[in-house]
Amino acid sequence: MKELSQFPGELTFRLMMLDDLPDVMVIEHESFTLPWTREAFRNELTNNHFAKYMMMELNGEPIGYAGMWTIMDEAHVTNIAVREAYRGRKLGERLLDELMRTAAYLGMKRITLEVRVSNSVARNLYEKKGFTPSGIRKGYYSDNHEDALIMWADLPNVESTAGEEGSEQK
Ligand SMILES: CC(C)(COP(=O)(O)OP(=O)(O)OC[C@H]1O[C@@H](n2cnc3c(N)ncnc32)[C@H](O)[C@@H]1OP(=O)(O)O)[C@@H](O)C(=O)NCCC(=O)NCCS
Repeated sequence: MKELSQFPGELTFRLMMLDDLPDVMVIEHESFTLPWTREAFRNELTNNHFAKYMMMELNGEPIGYAGMWTIMDEAHVTNIAVREAYRGRKLGERLLDELMRTAAYLGMKRITLEVRVSNSVARNLYEKKGFTPSGIRKGYYSDNHEDALIMWADLPNVESTAGEEGSEQK
């Protein structure tokens, strides 16, 4: 889909492909202290039937990505990141909107994620989009044993024939 953002230019969203992994690794490394490996992403794209990953591009340049697992009627966000130079311009919000819209379209009723308790930028974003805290995973992050805050949001009912896709069992 195509739409205009506050950033001048054309903002587009599309499925992540294996060819995107070099760009994904750049963004991953500037975004996370425990970055996923290229192999981990490759495995998600090729072996994990539950995984859905999308790229966000500005004027054709990859500037962010997000992913989730769709299991039964619940979406589990695995990661969301925007290139450092493009942060703070509502693009992360647009990316999360798109991920949540896709999850709803696939028949997901709720969406969940984990976030570092210290990551106030992401927590603010999630709260803005309707996520509420529901628990803590103690020492979840292996680099500094920081706690993860578990958050959930309800998704709107969307008329779709694609709902079956998220209802398979492992
Ligand atoms: C988290 C992330 C995706 C947000 O994207 P972004 O483009 O920077 O954020 P946006 O400009 O869309 O802002 C959306 C909301 O996030 C919050 N936010 C953004 N920047 C913020 C800041 N500097 N301080 C506090 N809150 C902030 C606000 O609620 C904001 O809404 P508002 O502008 O109406 O107040 C991005 O900062 C990022 O990639 N961070 C590194 C990776 C990461 O932490 N991912 C989340 C892992 S759980």
